[in-house]
Amino acid sequence: MSKIAPSILSANFSQLGNEIAEVEAAGADYIHVDVMDGHFVPNITIGPLIVKAIRPVTTLPLDVHLMIDNPDQYIDIFAESGADIITVHYEACTHLHRTIMAIKEKGVKAGLVINPATPVEMIRPIMHELDLLLFMTVNPGFGGQAFIPEVLDQIKQADQWRKDMQLDLEFEVDGGIVPKTAALCKEAGIDVFVSGSYIFGKADRKQAIDALREAIRD
Ligand code: DX5
Ligand code: ZN
Repeated sequence: MSKIAPSILSANFSQLGNEIAEVEAAGADYIHVDVMDGHFVPNITIGPLIVKAIRPVTTLPLDVHLMIDNPDQYIDIFAESGADIITVHYEACTHLHRTIMAIKEKGVKAGLVINPATPVEMIRPIMHELDLLLFMTVNPGFGGQAFIPEVLDQIKQADQWRKDMQLDLEFEVDGGIVPKTAALCKEAGIDVFVSGSYIFGKADRKQAIDALREAIRD
């Protein structure tokens, strides 16, 4: 079944615990946590301290998206802070296989993410090692950007490989996700839908999650 992962990047940070409780009660499946370092992407956001602080407020898996250089250096601390999934950028990993193995060794699910302009062919050799493959549908760094439709073809290509190799990894999409774009991604093969400004921009988060759920119904 399709999953919805609200991105707390667009939440009210002074009320973070309540914001998470609200989306959990509204039926969210994962909590998506955007970690940015001001180097790999132009923005600076959340670190392991916040992951540790929110860990006790939810039973949902914490889906930690590392938009940072040298991710190897931070795998241990994010795992120990309570991440359930750690996702690293293809573009930030010099020795990608080593990094993915290091995540798995911590007993955490291993995710890989590619930017919209990275050819999907690059991830094929490592696909069988992954628990999650994330497709950026905006250039990472900020919430509220417009969906880049060219990524749909990349998703479809990878979905074909997933079928050919009989893999059961999840495909996730992140950036510009609203009901209309979610439906397109669902059709292309996506299982997990990250959505930030659409969910947290609405006073009624349940209504937003319900609208997404309706758009991606099996
Ligand atoms: C962008 C982040 C996203 C962001 C999505 O770099 O990775 O998770 O929060 O925000 P929306 O849904 O507003 O595009
Ligand atoms: Zn993200």
